[in-house]
Amino acid sequence: SSSLVHLPGPWEHQHGRISLDNSNSHESNLLEYEAFDVLRPRGPLDEGLSVLSVDMRVAENRKDHYTDKFKSSSLIVRRNKEFTIIIKLDRAFSAEQDDVQVEFLIGSSPNENKGTYITVSIGKGKHNRHWKGRVVEMQGNEVTVGITPDASCIIGRFRTFVAIVTDFGRRRTQRNQDTDFYVLFNPWDPADQVYMDKEEDRQEYVMNDVGIIYNGEYNNITSRSWNFGQFEEGVLDACLMVMDAGKVPLLFRGNATEVVRQGSALLNAQDDKGVMVGNWSGDYSSGTAPTAWTGSPEILLKYASEGCEPVCFVQCWVFAGVMNTFMRCLGIPARVITNFFSAHDNTGNVKTDIVLDKDGKIDRSRTKDSVWNYHCWNEVYMKRPDLPENFSGWQVVDCTPQETSDGLYRCGPTSVNAIKEGELSYPFDAKFVFAEVKSMSMFLLLPSIQCVVIVENANILPSTSMNLGSLKERETMQMAERRGVSSRDYLPPAEAGVTIELQADTIKMATKLLKCYQFCVPYASDVQPTVCGCFSNNSVTSPGWDFFVKTVNMTGSPMVGKELMVSVEFLNPYNFILQKVHLRIDGPGLIPTKLKYYSQILPGASVTYKVLLIPRLLGKKVLMVCLDCPLLRQVTNQLEFVVKDENRNDLKE
Ligand SMILES: *[C@@H]1O[C@H](CO)[C@@H](O)[C@H](O)[C@H]1NC(C)=O
Repeated sequence: SSSLVHLPGPWEHQHGRISLDNSNSHESNLLEYEAFDVLRPRGPLDEGLSVLSVDMRVAENRKDHYTDKFKSSSLIVRRNKEFTIIIKLDRAFSAEQDDVQVEFLIGSSPNENKGTYITVSIGKGKHNRHWKGRVVEMQGNEVTVGITPDASCIIGRFRTFVAIVTDFGRRRTQRNQDTDFYVLFNPWDPADQVYMDKEEDRQEYVMNDVGIIYNGEYNNITSRSWNFGQFEEGVLDACLMVMDAGKVPLLFRGNATEVVRQGSALLNAQDDKGVMVGNWSGDYSSGTAPTAWTGSPEILLKYASEGCEPVCFVQCWVFAGVMNTFMRCLGIPARVITNFFSAHDNTGNVKTDIVLDKDGKIDRSRTKDSVWNYHCWNEVYMKRPDLPENFSGWQVVDCTPQETSDGLYRCGPTSVNAIKEGELSYPFDAKFVFAEVKSMSMFLLLPSIQCVVIVENANILPSTSMNLGSLKERETMQMAERRGVSSRDYLPPAEAGVTIELQADTIKMATKLLKCYQFCVPYASDVQPTVCGCFSNNSVTSPGWDFFVKTVNMTGSPMVGKELMVSVEFLNPYNFILQKVHLRIDGPGLIPTKLKYYSQILPGASVTYKVLLIPRLLGKKVLMVCLDCPLLRQVTNQLEFVVKDENRNDLKE
């Protein structure tokens, strides 16, 4: 009778073709009653056992699964860890006589072989193929069932049914959204692909919902806070919707490597109507300026609520910030990386070549590579079962559209260890990442002299940086050249007695050996892509919050569930009018992103924006504010405070 368990629907084998189920939001359910069409004597439909209710024990399970920070009323669990549900029957359950099966479905073509239809038996009919199930406790008519999703199962939103199976057929509970639940990757479990062994690391790379993204320039590193907001309302659904919009087959969604690779393609709007549109033009009037965003939730929620229309506009740190949210939300450890002097290797020779003309200017017709003043991307942490063992761990992934990879704008994941060793033959995109982080050389081709300059690649990329000129570094480069497309001689820095200074388009050369090279941006815009994070020429970079904003005031002390008034005052210190001003207030666990628009702020005038918020989560919280307008970009600051529990005194703090 097992052939009846799965009812093939119209979605399958259409005209002989097998279509892959690629949406979590489309659903199709099994019949409420399936009669077994066997030559058995007709009898009563069942033996009187029926299900009265199913309790997903949301609060208890979410605490155990480290998912209680999510603002959601649904159960959210992690793979390979037991959760318990309580099934209330109309009489006591008998494990010897009754056949009760808990069924979990995902997508529109539930299929046991594809992991989209899972049955867990707790009665006499043993039927546990992938997920484990057991009776934990029986009390009166209630039976508590423990369920363990397997360590490599599909992640996403599942539907729950309970079926009573008799000799005559199978009768299941009705569709009930209250029993829907989410399964995520599990960095706490050694059997999961994304396992991370230190609690401290998991707290930082999975649980932390605010962070700092570095930007600026090598000589003038600045930073801003970013609301990753992976636990904010609607963010998890939006992340699943990103994969649905990108038609990522459900079958792939249990594999972290695949989810990361697909994510890197889907977060940019290039070629697949993904989440964000990059724009480096300096004119962002037809959208939001990249500098004006305060975090990821606003962008993801906008994308989801507007029918998966790409959000305008962003630059690399926004791409990386949202990618970080996407990963952490699904349970994959992730961090944002900022690389200064990031090179873009268009020519595929693993080096960054800049060709100068006889006046010392960049010869644009011959320079195919470009250097960004900085570039942000991500690293994710996972096992790579497809690679030799030492290439597991941190992997580089970059969703800023730069180069196509297998036909789509995406990059990675590629092993950090492999890049360190110059082992560029493994998937994915190792050569491209290697050039980004190593940026070994610049070739200065002048009619009279021909020299080679090794540019010291100053990055703050802890996991891939090495001492230049070290033996190890040289071995790495040699290995890379063996793996690379073409190679030129590698000269260690000591042999290159030339310093260069790039001043906009002009390059000055000095003969003294200096340690540090200065790059002044922006470049002219005819090299693609142009400089990232370089704001339009006529804008003023803010000297700092204190100068502009008189106060961020709070009334009372912050308590969970208690209203709190915050007011932000901004003073225009300039002698010119600021127009089209956007002011954002944001803070995960505190408030959904608030946006206030001022058509103009006169010289010397001040504006005050007041918001009422109700802290949702305990502990240290960051409230961030960003003011942005065409003449004054990215005035940011933040207020940090501790949210307490009203019912507990401060002794525990
Ligand atoms: C960038 O923004 C400008 C003005 O808002 C617009 O004209 C241009 O088409 C945008 N570029 C892209 C790639 O969307």
